[in-house]
Amino acid sequence: MTRRMIVAGNWKMNLDKSSSQELGKAVAGVASSTSDVDVAIFPTTIWISSVVDAVGKNTLIIGAQDCYSESAGAFTGETSPDSVASIAGACLVGHSERRHVIGESDATVARKLQAALSAGLTAYLCVGETLEERDAGKAEQVVERQLDSALADLDTGALGQLVIAYEPVWAIGTGRAATPADAQEMSASVRDWLRKSHGESGAAVRVLYGGSVSPDNAAEIFSQPDVDGGLVGGASLKIDSFKPIVEAAVNSVRV
Ligand code: PGA
Repeated sequence: MTRRMIVAGNWKMNLDKSSSQELGKAVAGVASSTSDVDVAIFPTTIWISSVVDAVGKNTLIIGAQDCYSESAGAFTGETSPDSVASIAGACLVGHSERRHVIGESDATVARKLQAALSAGLTAYLCVGETLEERDAGKAEQVVERQLDSALADLDTGALGQLVIAYEPVWAIGTGRAATPADAQEMSASVRDWLRKSHGESGAAVRVLYGGSVSPDNAAEIFSQPDVDGGLVGGASLKIDSFKPIVEAAVNSVRV
């Protein structure tokens, strides 16, 4: 079965309520003009409901950028995966900024992944190496370690709720995207890992590339055989740059 492409916008801690609603509506307009790819947006948690109210739930996948590893209790300031699941369908887990700015460990990411899946969310597990690790020739090893840790206990039945985003830390927000060949090589290595651990249903999990995806490089990145779309930060904040990226995915659809 062909893997359906996904273009996902990670809005990070940007946009106020009305800008989130406006951009959500504009993205829904783009998504409704194609049934060939999935389009997802990850607004800041506090505006998810407002965006859902503005655009409905039918044309777009709407998700949270993070959730906690427990479903309820004395965890001041955290967001329950069950609360996310009551209004949205997806959640990013282990984004590079959660790992490297906020300080989440592999173990924390693993617990969050299980919690997101148990709540019924589609988890977009983000993995990727730092520049130091790449320069030391350890990129694949680091990503394997992150996959081993987060997915060790993954039930084969939950594979349909999983998307992987390969995002090299050095490419995020820097304007320096991985080359299409590097994006391909790393996505293929993620897919090998999935095939080894879960057979062909593992290999069918979609693997996105993220890190300075732009209207200029999207087509070439998306044409790589193991890249099933993109997780887009900066360029997802304006419809003028996000729309051509969605179009690039539509044009890369494999038949
Ligand atoms: P960027 O961010 O496209 O701005 O590099 C990607 C991400 O953080 O998911």
